[in-house]
Amino acid sequence: MDQERLLRELSEFLRIPSVSTLPAHNQDCRAAAEWVAAELRRLGCHDVAFLGSETHPVVWGKGPDVPGAPTLLIYGHYDVQPPDPLAEWTTPPFEPTQRDGKLYARGSADDKGQVFCLLKAIDPQNPRVNFRFLIEGEEEYGSKVLFDLLKREPQRVRADVVVVADMSYVAPGWPAVYTTLRGLCYAEITVRTSKTDLHSGEYGGAAPNAHEELARLLTRLKGADGKINIPGLYAAVKRPPKAELAAWKKLPFNEKDFLNKRVQGQGLVGLKKYSVLERLWALPTFEIHGILGGFTGEGAKTVIPAAATAKVSMRLVPNQKLATVQRQLAAAVKRLAPKHVTASVQFLHGADPAQIKVDSLAFRLLDQAFKKVTGRGTVPARAGGSIPVVPALASAGAPVILTGIGLPDDRLHAPNEKLDLKQLWDGIEVFRTFYGLLGSQESGVRSRG
Ligand code: BES
Ligand code: MN
Ligand code: MN
Repeated sequence: MDQERLLRELSEFLRIPSVSTLPAHNQDCRAAAEWVAAELRRLGCHDVAFLGSETHPVVWGKGPDVPGAPTLLIYGHYDVQPPDPLAEWTTPPFEPTQRDGKLYARGSADDKGQVFCLLKAIDPQNPRVNFRFLIEGEEEYGSKVLFDLLKREPQRVRADVVVVADMSYVAPGWPAVYTTLRGLCYAEITVRTSKTDLHSGEYGGAAPNAHEELARLLTRLKGADGKINIPGLYAAVKRPPKAELAAWKKLPFNEKDFLNKRVQGQGLVGLKKYSVLERLWALPTFEIHGILGGFTGEGAKTVIPAAATAKVSMRLVPNQKLATVQRQLAAAVKRLAPKHVTASVQFLHGADPAQIKVDSLAFRLLDQAFKKVTGRGTVPARAGGSIPVVPALASAGAPVILTGIGLPDDRLHAPNEKLDLKQLWDGIEVFRTFYGLLGSQESGVRSRG
């Protein structure tokens, strides 16, 4: 493997600031799509197309025909989350930098580095399987373009196996496959208390304050004990089976290390009667991402804000439905807001949770590939994060393998995101091996008919 050349190429991809949630980066998203398309052509794809959007196209590709071999659909995303707060990066987010065997850049682990890994594992001279590619540019903003595309053209997901490498090992040395993803319900909650802002001396003491009302509303929606007070929310939540909870106890996960090494905080929160893994993997959440409104500039201004908005999101677990949770949240906000307040909810994007069976042959082949290259096979785990399009990828019936080559401390969406290069080099070997096993005549992965 020519590691120098691969690093140069990956760095080129990572230098493109393809932030899908910020319109100022539309052209950069397009440029990242072009990078992916060029790569697919280099791999011998004869049908490379940009679908669904000029600025955030889904990059479609169809690899060289390998008669009789199974079809493998590779899904990934070339968009990234905003890099802020910029001041906290040791080196700039879009200037990929190597330190101590790690490559630091926004997108290094989520998901450009992993897309790169899946692509570089392909030998264009001997592809082994029939590759299909759906590499999207809007995953971090709810995947609307890809959803619409798959509604129009569901046959794009037709395959014998689908692979998604957008996660991590459960711990260093412990590769994983994921049996669930949480869903997501992203919303803005706005509270208005008066027509305009008011002098806090003339009116303070009698006029309602939008920030105060919003703060109270938010803390009513989720109490200090971690319980979400949205009527009906927990009705659909099922506890994981006993055997699964028991298996989690054997995973290399330690609540103290999670607090000290990963959260690096002073204490954990949430529903105390459930283990930390159950809180992360099998329970819904309510998080406040930011609060807008009022006076936040330099210096001081004595004003009662008339309006305040909170950006919030909820994670959903299997058996919950996005549409139901949206209704429940909107109703709870209406119910919990006092009469002197106008409260409204606007939904930005969302995703249903996903549940995946990991018992088919393709999972055993990936397990073998990891075992051969890294010395350990895959453990089943659940994921706390979301990938909106996974339920749609699974809808055609092919097994969807959710896995990844990252590590839990890669700092996705945060400053100093990184990818350990050993993970990348191993990952390329793992997937090269996996493609070979999948393509071998005896494997019998092809779905009949
Ligand atoms: N790769 C992540 C999803 C992920 C992270 C799965 C960690 C498992 C463990 C993905 O890029 C992501 O961040 N998705 C967003 C989706 C949302 C914006 C609709 C998420 O989970 O916040
Ligand atoms: Mn991702
Ligand atoms: Mn992400």
